[in-house]
Parts: sequence; C-alpha cells; structure tokens
Amino acid sequence: MSFKESIDLNRLPVHIAIIMDGNGRWAKRRGKLRIFGHQHGVDAVKEVTEACAELGVPYLTLYAFSTENWNRPPLEVNALMGLLVKTLHGELKTLQDNNIRLQAIGDLKSLARGCYPELMHAIRETASNDRMTLILALSYSARWELAMAARNIATQVALGNLRPEDINQERFASYLTTNNIPDPELLIRTSGEARISNFMLWQIAYTELYFTPVLWPDFTKEDLYKAIVDFQSRERRFGMTSEQIKVL
Ligand code: IPE
Ligand code: IPE
Ligand code: MG
Repeated sequence: MSFKESIDLNRLPVHIAIIMDGNGRWAKRRGKLRIFGHQHGVDAVKEVTEACAELGVPYLTLYAFSTENWNRPPLEVNALMGLLVKTLHGELKTLQDNNIRLQAIGDLKSLARGCYPELMHAIRETASNDRMTLILALSYSARWELAMAARNIATQVALGNLRPEDINQERFASYLTTNNIPDPELLIRTSGEARISNFMLWQIAYTELYFTPVLWPDFTKEDLYKAIVDFQSRERRFGMTSEQIKVL
C-alpha cells in the first residue's frame, strides 16, 4: 500500500520546505564525482515537485545552494551553476504546462553570470501560474536574510519612513525574502543530518521537522508521502495544552 492513500488531503501542509542533502555521498558510494550526485538530484527535484503539485500543496521551497556553499571547490560551484541554468532552461515548459509559478529567495544577484538572467526569465514567464509556487533558495542563508532585513528596516527608520515603535513581528517578517509566503509547516531534511544549516531560521519557529536518512537523489514521491503522513500524525500545540487544541 502506498503512503499516499493515508494522506488526508484536507490537512495538507500549506508549505513544505526541503533541505536537499546527500548528493555528494550518493555519488561517492558509486565511485563517481560529486557532480554526478547533483545531476541525479535534479531527478528527485522533478519527482517531488510533481508530487506536491498533484497533491495540491500550495508552496514548495527547495534549498538548492547556501551562502556557505560558495566555499566549496570552484569546480563544484561552477558545475552546480551550470546545472541550474540547464535545468531552468529545460524545465520551463514543464512548469508552464503544469501551471507552476517559480520564485527564488537569496542573494540572487551573486549568482553566476548567465544564471541570474535565466532565473529571472523563468520567474517572469511563470508569474501568473497559480496551481503551486515553487521557491528555489539560491545563495540563501537565514543569517544573510535577517541581516538584510535589519539593514533595510534601519534605512527606513533613518529616512523617517518608519518609527521604531511600529516594528513588530508582522512588520519584520515583511522585510524578509519570504514576504507573502506562508511559513513552512513541514521541513524535510534528507541524508541523515539533523541540522538546519542556516535555513529559514525565522520562518521555521513552529515548523514540524522531519529528518530522513534517504540521500536526496534517492528521494521519491513515496518518501514525500511518508513525510506528509508523519506530519499529519503530529499534534501541533503552538504553546497551548493538548486539551485546548482538541476543543479548537
Ligand atoms: C546537497 O548535497 C546539495 C548541495 C548542498 C548543493 P551535498 O552536495 O551537500 O551532498 P553531501 O552532503 O556532501 O553528501
Ligand atoms: C545545506 O546542505 C545546504 C543545501 C542543501 C543547499 P550542506 O551540505 O551545505 O550543509 P552542511 O554543510 O552539511 O551543514
Ligand atoms: Mg551536504
């Protein structure tokens, strides 16, 4: 039996975020270069995007490249950038055919030349699609995002457009790259690592975390269904008591 049959479609997470990890180890186990793992990781991206769209998950965020990933060997960084351009180019039609809107968060201007225009093109072309929003986190890190938000808020205060007393949680969140995107309800990390690696530190305050040993290139639709079933089995209390939650 597929885990899909156990999913309550009325209680799907509004936003699933995934830290796609384990490509390098997947390749190493096969005696191949790390980039071979990244190439196969693209297949998992397609599979999971399709599964989320089919189920009706409104938002899917994929952590594809972190600020810290710039510190990897240049050969790997270049290969990842090349893979991004190739995938964006090759998959634009699929996004259109499936009515999926592409967005991106991160220091996008820092992306390799060629990458940025390709990304912007895909974002523009898919802007009016409304079945699902796919968000790529590229050259992204939470501390970068939080520091930028603080800088932009300070600028507005200095210009006299904003009063310090008007800065609250909602206002602060509007300065993040995820403005207008609901917080993830489920965060999945593959490859067995149980850490956040500088991802969405503000947005995951009450997110359900799911760690699986499956390496990203091996992650299938079934693995996603399993994570959603696990998510739906949890009681989300948001600081309240179990009894209070049952009354609501
Ligand atoms: C995740 O796989 C992809 C990126 C971070 C770009 P890794 O490349 O981190 O693979 P491992 O963790 O070394 O196995
Ligand atoms: C996190 O994976 C970043 C992405 C998946 C893009 P890493 O492989 O870079 O994280 P660490 O270094 O193991 O924490
Ligand atoms: Mg890794």
